[in-house]
Amino acid sequence: MEEIQIHYQGSRLLFMEEMNEEFTARNISAKTVMNTCAGRKRAYTETKKDADLLRPTGKELQLAGDAILGEVMWRILDQADEPYILVFDADRVFTGKNRESLLAIIEVKRHPEIEGFFSEKEGMFYHSMVKKIKNGKIAEIGSWKGSSASFIGRTAGRNNTELNCVDWWTGSLDWERERRRKIENQDIETEFRNNMEERGIKVNVLKGTSVDGAKRFEDGTLDLVFIDASHDFDSVWGDLAAWYPKIKSGGTLSGHNYDSHENVKKAADKFAAENGLEIKRGPGSIWFAKKDI
Ligand SMILES: C[S@@+](CC[C@H](N)C(=O)[O-])C[C@H]1O[C@@H](n2cnc3c(N)ncnc32)[C@H](O)[C@@H]1O
Repeated sequence: MEEIQIHYQGSRLLFMEEMNEEFTARNISAKTVMNTCAGRKRAYTETKKDADLLRPTGKELQLAGDAILGEVMWRILDQADEPYILVFDADRVFTGKNRESLLAIIEVKRHPEIEGFFSEKEGMFYHSMVKKIKNGKIAEIGSWKGSSASFIGRTAGRNNTELNCVDWWTGSLDWERERRRKIENQDIETEFRNNMEERGIKVNVLKGTSVDGAKRFEDGTLDLVFIDASHDFDSVWGDLAAWYPKIKSGGTLSGHNYDSHENVKKAADKFAAENGLEIKRGPGSIWFAKKDI
């Protein structure tokens, strides 16, 4: 029986996706029992794998407080005629009889959502871009406390793809002075590092300016560069000019805040026009362009 830990941090879509990635990586395929406890059952209710999921019925859930839900689950498992995968909250106690008959047990490790600037939809799109990259190298410019990185970090790790996060952790140049002053005494970098470590994400931290960070890479070596740093025109332009040459042919240049910050759109459009790139749109304010040369 395999024991697998999966991190849950407020995005059920990400959780389901990561669970599927773990199954694929380990070549595990079986019916899955979700140990959803009554108070939190919404966390797991949306899934592409619905057909393969066994859950307590609505009526059973209604009847089940936390105390008896376990019994409902163990009954399902006891009646099972084939090995199952059990998805189980890491902070709960396993009291079932037939743990050994399970194919795998997925321990769900819960984390609070990281305070940041990424919606679940944007995060899942970012995730889908990174998922395609195997044995590669990516750079995220502007990571703050790690919200965006948390959508891609473990998948990059599973794919043996190096994740580089570049930030000076003093805020964005377009933030008002008051907002930047407020964070002067905060150690955001440590918060970022801790958030990544707790969530099982391995990252190369490149502390410093975006432009200096770019100098650490050879031209034509990165599969994906994602820009989410300062949003004034000159900064975005400087980021694009510094990082674009680092991307390999067939790689992707992408970023955040295309709609929400006029100057981001202006700089990205102008840069695309001058370099023969076609800007495409992801959900929310994500933009991306393929580098074909
Ligand atoms: C909008 S936040 C990034 C949000 C993050 N991606 C998230 O999902 O929560 C912008 C970040 O870029 C960093 N930053 C802004 N301009 C920068 C520059 N020129 N060089 C390095 N870091 C910069 C800021 O310190 C801040 O952490």
